[in-house]
Amino acid sequence: MADPLSDLAFDQLFREARTANAWQKTDIPEVMVRAVYDLMKWGATSANISPSRFLWIRSDAAKAKLKPLLMEGNVSKVLDAPWTVIIAWDEKFEDKVPELFPHNPDAKNWFTDEDTHFDAAFRNGTLQGAYLMMAARALGLDCGPMSGFDNDAVDAEFFAGDAKMRHWKSNFICALGYGDDAALFERSPRLCFDDANVIL
Ligand SMILES: Cc1cc2nc3c(=O)[nH]c(=O)nc-3n(C[C@H](O)[C@H](O)[C@H](O)COP(=O)(O)O)c2cc1C
Repeated sequence: MADPLSDLAFDQLFREARTANAWQKTDIPEVMVRAVYDLMKWGATSANISPSRFLWIRSDAAKAKLKPLLMEGNVSKVLDAPWTVIIAWDEKFEDKVPELFPHNPDAKNWFTDEDTHFDAAFRNGTLQGAYLMMAARALGLDCGPMSGFDNDAVDAEFFAGDAKMRHWKSNFICALGYGDDAALFERSPRLCFDDANVIL
């Protein structure tokens, strides 16, 4: 049993956590994005398959490659951030399952059906993307998640020709840094409990 976090932590992680649209010039050192990964990796996935893979866009050259693949309205929202991460999943995630789920050597074979394989990769990969956002916010960073880009073009440009990444598929991207609050629009409402919940 653990104690609840503080009210301040609830604010930072949820109530005051906004999607950043613009970015301060403040840089973020690589050690911070490593810290984000080292927190998010503990988030649960089914059979611990951990299918997400992450390509961190840092250099001007990488940003220039990404730029034409973004929806026009997203270009500055993404590229003005010191870091952007392409959250992908590995189509060969099952190769790591013996390492990740060592107490059941058969687990690798649970994903041989094509639909099951895709569902597991996409569901758990998306969860891991959300864990990454929460880890970043826990560390005091702001996030700008984006799905407005050409996934197939990103896969072709960044992943297809690379020995390590050739089986990766992009899911969504997330800009990371310190947001410029002056660019925020008013917070949109969320559904109330009665609209979004049923208790049987
Ligand atoms: C997976 C995902 C994809 C998104 N894609 C875009 C996008 O392509 N362009 C954009 O401007 N905002 C995008 N957003 C931002 C959402 O519109 C924003 O998170 C939502 O309105 C809530 O805003 P808030 O966090 O400030 O309350 C995306 C958010 C998520 C989580």
